[in-house]
Parts: sequence; C-alpha cells; structure tokens
Amino acid sequence: MTAQNKNKINVPFACVILAAGKGTRMKSALPKVMHKLAGFSLISHVIDAISPLSPEKTVVVIAEHMDSVKKNVADIDGQAKFVIQTEQLGTGHAVRSTKAELGGYTGKVLILCGDTPLIKTETLEKLLEASQSAEIVVLGMRLANPYGYGRLLVDAGGQLEEIIEERDATPEQKSINLCNSGIIAVSGKYLFSLLDKLTNNNNAGEYYLTDIIALADDAGLHCHVVEADESELSGINTRTQLAKAEEVMQWRLREKAMAEGVTMIDPASVFLRADTKIAPDVIIHPQVIFGDNVVVEPDVEIRSFSHIEGAQIKSGAIIGPFARLRTGSIIGKNAHIGNFVELKNTRLGDGAKANHLSYVGDSEVGEKANIGAGTITCNYDGANKHKTIIGTGAFIGSNSSLVAPVSIGAGAVIGAGSVITQDVPDNSLALERSQQINKIGRVKKP
Ligand code: UD1
Ligand code: MG
Repeated sequence: MTAQNKNKINVPFACVILAAGKGTRMKSALPKVMHKLAGFSLISHVIDAISPLSPEKTVVVIAEHMDSVKKNVADIDGQAKFVIQTEQLGTGHAVRSTKAELGGYTGKVLILCGDTPLIKTETLEKLLEASQSAEIVVLGMRLANPYGYGRLLVDAGGQLEEIIEERDATPEQKSINLCNSGIIAVSGKYLFSLLDKLTNNNNAGEYYLTDIIALADDAGLHCHVVEADESELSGINTRTQLAKAEEVMQWRLREKAMAEGVTMIDPASVFLRADTKIAPDVIIHPQVIFGDNVVVEPDVEIRSFSHIEGAQIKSGAIIGPFARLRTGSIIGKNAHIGNFVELKNTRLGDGAKANHLSYVGDSEVGEKANIGAGTITCNYDGANKHKTIIGTGAFIGSNSSLVAPVSIGAGAVIGAGSVITQDVPDNSLALERSQQINKIGRVKKP
C-alpha cells in the first residue's frame, strides 16, 4: 500500500478502531459499540469524527458474532475492513491482529476505541499534526479522578516515557492525573515491530497496547502527548457513563442548533438526534422529543410535549402541544397540528389543519382541508393498510371515521359523527348517521 491519498492536513494515515471488547459492564446482549448516543451507535460517532480527515484505510477490530457491528459500519463506510480478534487478549493484541491489513503501511496509524464516541474531528486533526514530529503521539487528558485510566509518565523535556495501567501502578504513580485517552497515533513503520515485542507480564495478564511506549522510548523514538478536554475523551464502560455521554452529546446538539438560529425556550428539555435538521427561526417550546430523520423548515413553531420522528415540517407550520408525528409525515406550509393528533405516513397540504384528537395515517390531505376533532382514518383492516385521500379544502366533521381505502373529494363536507365507507364526490355533503328523534316531554320531572 502506498501513502499517496493525502487528507487536507497533509498527513497520510490509516485508522484502527478497537471494538472487540466484551463490554461486560454494560450487562447487555448488544455489543458495547452498538449502544446509542443521540440515536446513533457509539462506533458510528467515532467514524463520523474520523471521516472528514479522509483516512487511507479504516480497519475495525471486532470479536466473533459481531455481525451487527460489521453491518452498521459497512452502511456508513463501505470501504472499511474488518479483522476478527478471536480471543480478547488485550488492546495490544487487538492492534496486532490488524497486521494482515496494515503490516506494510508506512503512514501514521491512528488507533481509537469504539467506546469513545465524543471525540471531535478538530482534536484528531491536532493529534495527526503533532504526529509529524514524533513517532508516537498519545492523546491525554487531566482528570480530577483518574481512577481506572492508564497514567502518562512524562519527563521534564516532554518525552512520554511510559504508560502505567491503574492495576500495575504504584501509589505514587496513581497520584498522576494526566491520563491516557486510548487514542494514539503511531508511525506505521514502527508499529508492528513494537507490538511484536509486547508481553503479557502484568497484573491483567493482557497484551497492553500502552506498553509500546516504554519500548519506543527505550529504542530512542520520540513519544509525545497532546492534551484534550475530558468531555471528548471519556470512555463508555457502563450504562451510567452512557447516560453522561448522552448528556454531553445533547448539549452539543442543542448549542449547535441555537448557534444556527433556533430558539429553544428550555433547551435542557429538548432531545435531539444527531441527524435532526432544524432551520433558523424555528421556535421549540419545552419538552419536545425528536426521533430519527426530522427536517424542520424556517418559522415553524413546535409546542410543548410533542414527539416527532421521520417527519418533514415545512415553513410556518405550528405543531402541538401534545402532537405526535410519525415516520412519513410531511406537514405543508402554515399547516397546523394540534393536541393529541397523531400522523403517520401522511402528507398534509399547505394550510391544512388537524387541531384536536385525531389519527391520520397513510393519507394524502389536500391544501386547506380541515380535519375536525376526533377524526380517525381507519387505515388498517386487520390484515392490510389502506390509503385515505382528502381533497383540497374538504371539511371533515368532528368524530368521523374514514374507512380506508376511501377518497373524499375537494370541497366536500362530512357531517359530524359519520362513518364513511364510500368515496365522496367533490363539493358534496356526506352524512352517515341515524336520524335524531326528539320525543317531546318524555322526560319525567323527579
Ligand atoms: C484502555 C487503556 C488505558 C486508557 C483507557 C481509556 C490499555 C491497556 N489501556 O483501558 O490506558 O486509559 O483505555 O479509555 O490499552 N479491546 C479489544 N480487544 C481486546 C481488549 C480491548 O478490541 O482484547 C477494545 C475494547 O473494545 C475497547 C478498547 O479496546 O474499545 C479499550 O479496551 P478497554 O478494555 O475498555 O480498556 P480500558 O481498561 O478502558
Ligand atoms: Mg474502556
């Protein structure tokens, strides 16, 4: 392999993502890196941070039976290679298992952990830049409580001499608060010869990747540290750490949206997905939840307690309070969706309204149509789903059931309480209910 396709910072590199660990502390049937942050897997966030830097090759180390990881990564990066580490003998052993893919590579090898999803592209860029003047650069962080992390032993001249793992550290070494994030850039030229020298002679009985530092230092290679903020570098090993990382990620997404012109009255109560797209001058009230794949155009107002996923909301629309938009909802310009209204796979025309207590599914609703309170599209017959079409300017009276497949013509009016099972022509009034009988004086006074 040659190192010709340079990225924009001019440092050719390949990356290795370690993801074979069992993730025992998550107590989950799911591989650890498949747990989600802001709706997307931990490993997908790592890949998203690397991609803008254009690695020449990406190699993911997984364990057997991690097909879900393979599929998830392949969907994001079709070029990624996978290496199976059959036994989890340590991080050094994991990197060594990539030899068949990277043995001849002479650029930098950027090693990351799949369980460190908060890392930012700018920080990786800094690490790669620094790697131009040292054979090994480790991304470090200073922690008030360094417990559990490898400690970085740096001399007065800035040379990183050794990384000591928590369980092998002396009490004096444990008091060092400069820690290993697990993200390391190593010259491909030296990586595998250093890895070949690793032993598992330590308290964990593992081949530590971190032991290559002392070996490199002894061989006279330059080993440096680049420091970054711990908010980017915390590893996820437990559900509590997952929840903390979610909070960091949510604040990043909220702050980005607000910086781009979105008003959030109580940002802490708005939950976004990493792919939520919200245009400027959208107002989001407290307690709004976004699911995957939502696009919101300018001047939309989303009122409290709304849950929105897979929806496109066009400019000027008002949503909620208490609205539920499900996948395939397209809300036209200046349309209104009110309280306790659920939409699924429905296109609502410009200026149309469904303001109270309705279910509208698998439907096309024309411009300026009005869907009265309590309207239900009966889209499911117990076996199949059917479509409802409501024409431009149609008026659906309250508490109507539209039994699909059915079509309501443009300008048609449905009388309140009707159960409509047949198509209604344009500009026609349809009534389907029994006649009211008034029995005068029939009610006896007590
Ligand atoms: C590792 C570092 C530690 C650092 C910390 C940062 C070593 C020996 N220790 O410790 O210095 O402070 O990360 O979070 O490197 N993995 C494999 N195969 C294995 C073992 C692990 O692929 O055989 C993967 C895991 O899936 C994980 C990553 O390597 O993504 C790190 O492993 P983990 O067991 O979490 O290491 P830490 O104890 O956190
Ligand atoms: Mg870890």
